[in-house]
Parts: sequence; C-alpha cells; structure tokens
Amino acid sequence: MTSGSPTADVKNADVPWDAFDPDEYIKRNYIEIQPVDREILSRVRDHFRDHFQGRAGRVAAGIDVGAGPNLYPALAMLPWCDRITLLERSARNLDYLDGQLAGYDANWDQFWDVLREQPEYADLGMDPRPRFKEAVGKPVAGSLFDLCGKDERWDLGTMFFVAESITTSLDEFRRGVGCFMSALNPGSPFAAAFMEHSEGYRVGSHEFPARDIDADEVRSVLKDYTEGVTIHRMANPKQLVRTGYTGMILACGRRKV
Ligand SMILES: C[S@@+](CC[C@H](N)C(=O)[O-])C[C@H]1O[C@@H](n2cnc3c(N)ncnc32)[C@H](O)[C@@H]1O
Repeated sequence: MTSGSPTADVKNADVPWDAFDPDEYIKRNYIEIQPVDREILSRVRDHFRDHFQGRAGRVAAGIDVGAGPNLYPALAMLPWCDRITLLERSARNLDYLDGQLAGYDANWDQFWDVLREQPEYADLGMDPRPRFKEAVGKPVAGSLFDLCGKDERWDLGTMFFVAESITTSLDEFRRGVGCFMSALNPGSPFAAAFMEHSEGYRVGSHEFPARDIDADEVRSVLKDYTEGVTIHRMANPKQLVRTGYTGMILACGRRKV
C-alpha cells in the first residue's frame, strides 16, 4: 500500500466557471429529453402542484440557483410565482440564459410537454415563451454562497446539480445546501437534485469537480432546514448520457417554518 498525503479539495473559488461551455453541456444533457429528466420533472411538477393547488394567486418570487444552461427548473416554477430569479456564477451561462429570454430554443419544448400534462401548466398554453419572458428577469450574476447572510428571500426554489457539482469539499457542499435553504421563506416548497457518487464531469475540454455524496448525506444535510421531504433515487445503470456517477437524487419538500 502506498502512502501519501490526501488529495486537496478542489474548492468552488478555484474553478474557472467562465470556461463552462453551455452549448457542449446542452448537447450532452438537454438536446433530447432523457428518461431520468422526464421523471425528475414529473415529480417536481407534481410536488409544486400538490403544494399550491387550491391556493389563490401566485406567490411573489421563485429562484433557480446555479441555473446553468438548464431552463426546466424555471419552467417548472412558471405557473406558481410572479417572478423567477436565475442565479448563476459563470459568465457564459449567464449569456446563454440572457439569449433565451426573447424566445427560448425548441429543445425546451420537450420539457414543457411533460409539464403541461398537469392543467395548471397546460393553462399557460402550448407555448409559454411570453410568460417565461415576463417572469424571468435578467439572469443574476452571483454565487450560491452569497445567499447566506442576505436579507432577500424567495417563496419557491430549485437547485439542480449544483451544491455537489461545484466543489469536491464536503464542507462546501453542506454550506451550499444551507445557503440555498437560507434564501427561502419559511414554508416555501423546494426541489433540489443531486448527482450520486459523482467523480466530476467534463464539459467540452474542461473537467469540473464534484463531491461524492449519496441519499443519506442529502437527507442528513436537509434535516435541520426542512419539513415534509421526500427523497427519490434514480439509478443510471447504463451511464449513457452523463458518465462517472451512479444515479441521481431528487429531494422535494418545504423550508421549515
Ligand atoms: C453541473 S452545473 C448544473 C447546471 C444546471 N442547474 C442543470 O440543472 O443542469 C453547475 C452549475 O453551477 C454553476 N456554479 C458554479 N459555482 C457556483 C456558485 N458558487 N454559485 C452559483 N452557481 C455556481 C456553474 O456555473 C454551473 O452552471
């Protein structure tokens, strides 16, 4: 057995996030809807619907943290809140999001088709682009970690493949989840998705770090902040689309009152 010093963590601040190539990422993940994203989206849709059904009007504000070049969390929030903040750290991803506001690309229609299986989504029509443009203001440049200690709060939140996919540090992973939670008003519903046992991931020619976590870690980190949480694990036996991980974990619940 060889001995040696343990490998140092790759911290979020050490990573060149502006090298994240949104086109490559979309080509790999979102050009065609994958069964696992269909399942995640259906569960998130039903979670938000169960929460808001029968309540009058929309809540004020939703936030998708670390939005990257993924519009489906924002689409899932569309019927339920007046405004949606897309918070993102990478300049290239912010440019991508900005470019989608006037009329987003056709690949996102497959994701809307899943959402509009429920009437509150269908009521927004076959093409929710005008409502998307109205709800999603200019994407906001910023860091998940800066949500801690800020006064601003949101009434609905999503964070997909972020806290564990921006660092190898367990401490930063936990802090990231905590900062997401601290941005939500008490009682707010949320959905958060995580890669399970990820070894990191490549986007174009760049490698990005990930913290290896599992459902027990997700359950444990959420415990103090949340109530009514359900956790679903979706295995990825073929590892066809995104390699170097064993599955995905979806947590749906409410911010503790
Ligand atoms: C694996 S991608 C996930 C993107 C998207 N949410 C999705 O569902 O595909 C991780 C994203 O987190 C962003 N990111 C990295 N560090 C961040 C930070 N400190 N605050 C907010 N976003 C960050 C990256 O730029 C990237 O868009």
